[in-house]
Amino acid sequence: MGALPRHIGISMDGNGRWAKLRNKKRSYGHKAGSENVQKIAEHAFSRGVEIVTLYAFSSENWARPKEEVEELMHLLGDYLKKLAAKAVKNGIKINVLGNKARLSAKLNKIIAEQTAKTSGGTRVLNILIDYGGRGEIVRALNALKESGEAVTEESIRQNLYTAGMPDPDLIIRTGGEIRLSNFLLYQAAYAELYFTDVLWPDFDEAEFDKALENYASRERRYGKIEC
Ligand code: FPP
Repeated sequence: MGALPRHIGISMDGNGRWAKLRNKKRSYGHKAGSENVQKIAEHAFSRGVEIVTLYAFSSENWARPKEEVEELMHLLGDYLKKLAAKAVKNGIKINVLGNKARLSAKLNKIIAEQTAKTSGGTRVLNILIDYGGRGEIVRALNALKESGEAVTEESIRQNLYTAGMPDPDLIIRTGGEIRLSNFLLYQAAYAELYFTDVLWPDFDEAEFDKALENYASRERRYGKIEC
């Protein structure tokens, strides 16, 4: 295999449609989607990827029906516990990134306890909850304004949720839409983008490997020309 991405971002889209195709409620799709998280994260790490960043709940997702938001919040807490138990064994550090102030005290407690357990891990699983790329940039700029530090590309980078991590090399979006939808806007400047029609609950190891193969065939020039 050719070049391997160090950091992969995944926008896990298509849970609702996956459920609808089975005449089930959207929550059934979110549950199936949650079950897929561990499988794909572990597979990515087994392939040598160092960081996986998952878009689990966007700042815009609060506008969904209250029942769906509540179900998603419940699932996030539930699956975080399951993920953390395995992560400790497998040397994976879990970070939950986003505007956690809007989450319930109960979910924040679960997040704090479960992520703390995994702090010794060497591979990194970032889970973005109540996250939006524009909001993240505004937050970084406000932090710089507060500290009086000069605004530079590097100082902004150091104030993003992903401070200290390399930018994503590859961004995958499942579910057929061809857009970023506010995912890692600053960090994605030179990411390779991979879109697939496969719905997230169906995105299995073989589909993940297809994305890796596709990435390996890309020529990354970062604005330069080939010499
Ligand atoms: C998009 O599908 C998916 C979401 C808004 C939720 C994604 C969250 C999970 C898979 C749970 C992750 C759990 C952990 C622990 C990280 P959609 O509902 O927009 O699907 P549609 O486009 O088919 O309607």
